[in-house]
Amino acid sequence: MRPAFAAAMLATAGFVLSAGVTAAVKPETAIHYRQGVYHAIAWNFAPMNAMVRGKQPWDQADFARRAARVAFYSQQLLEGFPPGSDAGAKTDAKPAIWQNTADFKAKMQAFQDASADLAKAAAGSDVEASKQAFAKTAEACKSCHEKYRAED
Ligand code: HEC
Repeated sequence: MRPAFAAAMLATAGFVLSAGVTAAVKPETAIHYRQGVYHAIAWNFAPMNAMVRGKQPWDQADFARRAARVAFYSQQLLEGFPPGSDAGAKTDAKPAIWQNTADFKAKMQAFQDASADLAKAAAGSDVEASKQAFAKTAEACKSCHEKYRAED
């Protein structure tokens, strides 16, 4: 690593630490970050959905691995919605998110709780319980999208 580059990286790290991560993040970076996490969630959720609907053979181990990923990602979404990130790149996030922060956070919490339950159920061998927990998690996605995500 060239010394100048290393120094620049250290300076950047120092800036992030002193200014606080959120303050240093550009709106477009936050928008792309949260969309990336949603894509990662959907990447895992889609095959689970196919299994629940019988369109793909049931595989408990794969279902459990994907459920654990969704639960993990669910905890990293809220930081992708800093104030001021209602614009700055193409986004379907409605301004209402930053007007009803407490309600938005509650919906995010409900999703985190549902996906944690889903991961727990999926780690067992009860297929019916796994399917029910999946439906509850899907409800949590829908309940937030209805209010806070613009139609494409
Ligand atoms: C607490 C609110 C909330 C929950 C819960 C939620 N979403 Fe979303 N979702 C949003 C918002 C807001 C956007 C728009 C983000 C943007 O464009 O900036 C979005 C966008 C998306 C996108 C599109 C990303 C893009 O690039 O346009 C996908 C896919 C998605 N969500 C899937 C899901 C799935 C699957 C779940 C549940 C497993 C879920 N979401 C749960 C609020 C939520």
